[in-house]
Amino acid sequence: MPPTPHSAILEAIDLINKSTEFVRAVFSGVRKDTNPRFVRIDLRPILIKNNLKLQVETNDGKQSVAKNHNFEDFDLVSLFESGFANILVEHKNGSIILQYNQKDEIKVSRKQELKSPDLEHDRSKNRLLQADDPFLKAVGISDNSGSIKPSMRDKYRQVDDFLKILVPTLNAAIQAGQIPQPTNEKPLRIVDLGCGNAYLTFAVHQYLLSIGMPILVTGIDIKQQSRDRNTGIAQQLGLTQSITFQAESIADSELDAVDITIALHACDTATDDAIAWGVRNRSKLLLIAPCCHHHLQSQLKVAPEPWPIVLKHGLLAERQLDILTDAFRCQLLKLVGYRTEAVEFVSDEHTPRNLLIRAVRTNAQPDQLEIQRYREMRTIWNLNPFLEDLISEFL
Ligand SMILES: C[S@@+](CC[C@H](N)C(=O)[O-])C[C@H]1O[C@@H](n2cnc3c(N)ncnc32)[C@H](O)[C@@H]1O
Repeated sequence: MPPTPHSAILEAIDLINKSTEFVRAVFSGVRKDTNPRFVRIDLRPILIKNNLKLQVETNDGKQSVAKNHNFEDFDLVSLFESGFANILVEHKNGSIILQYNQKDEIKVSRKQELKSPDLEHDRSKNRLLQADDPFLKAVGISDNSGSIKPSMRDKYRQVDDFLKILVPTLNAAIQAGQIPQPTNEKPLRIVDLGCGNAYLTFAVHQYLLSIGMPILVTGIDIKQQSRDRNTGIAQQLGLTQSITFQAESIADSELDAVDITIALHACDTATDDAIAWGVRNRSKLLLIAPCCHHHLQSQLKVAPEPWPIVLKHGLLAERQLDILTDAFRCQLLKLVGYRTEAVEFVSDEHTPRNLLIRAVRTNAQPDQLEIQRYREMRTIWNLNPFLEDLISEFL
């Protein structure tokens, strides 16, 4: 006989089945020794021809697919036991959160607050951030009617797609034990370096909070006006307990170590400052989308043979040096103990700066061949990557 589900699971299932009380449920994260098919599953009640149905939206990290079911036909017990580590169930009077820790023990917490379901059938597909979310209005991405402003569509897609990479990377790192399962006592700590208007900072905060993950988020920008604006928005949304902003340069920041360092289009060598900050502070994950690349562009006087056939064309020279800058960054991260990849995080129709450096701290020692390759590359090109000087003590 299969074991009886935990009493908190039965309580949560009961809340979902009270379809007129149910608001939404989110399943995310990965339980020890399991491998759920989806990164996240959302449940919510929707009204179709005056009948309440259960909408189940599965997201595999690439796309979301929504299907509608009769409440009584859907197998909730199997879903609860399919390997998700964080389960949030909201109802009209509050929420229940179930979280499995690294030892696969279940922790249950409850909150009381009034909530109301959104029963509309037609919600925008494949987005983690709903356009009418109040934070998107507060930061200026959506207008008062809850639609994305035409001028902010690209930023919205950048932020939403950045999240789509961050979330599965975070889940995988928690599952692999590289990041401990966040708890109320030890929340997940994230810093956004060069946060500007904090679109990404708030998005990460709101999304992770919405799936019941305890978090502390800090946004850092050299501009005092960014700090003032963003702090005002955090106050307006009542979020100052878990999101704060500092006005300082990345290189001089004395913020305590964090689990995840992110940066979206921090200018030129501020991207290197962000990577170096993450390395020095032993961040377990780095997700860095570089911006403009001027440093190596200005260093290269003569291209090595036979590369002049490429670099005599201004446009190709610029692209080649962008590639070299990011390749040096990835290799340096590898040499200091990170598993590193360069991935495309958003389609280039939303920004030409659509490369993301994703690095996970493994502490693996680099082999001699990789060190040799790095040295040869910089010798052949006679270039001195900015990042190398910043993290020389770790090389
Ligand atoms: C292109 S904006 C990107 C802002 C935001 N991440 C976004 O994607 O909307 C770059 C931001 O980095 C900040 N910045 C540049 N250099 C910095 C540094 N050395 N330390 C801290 N912030 C810096 C700028 O003030 C600016 O707000």
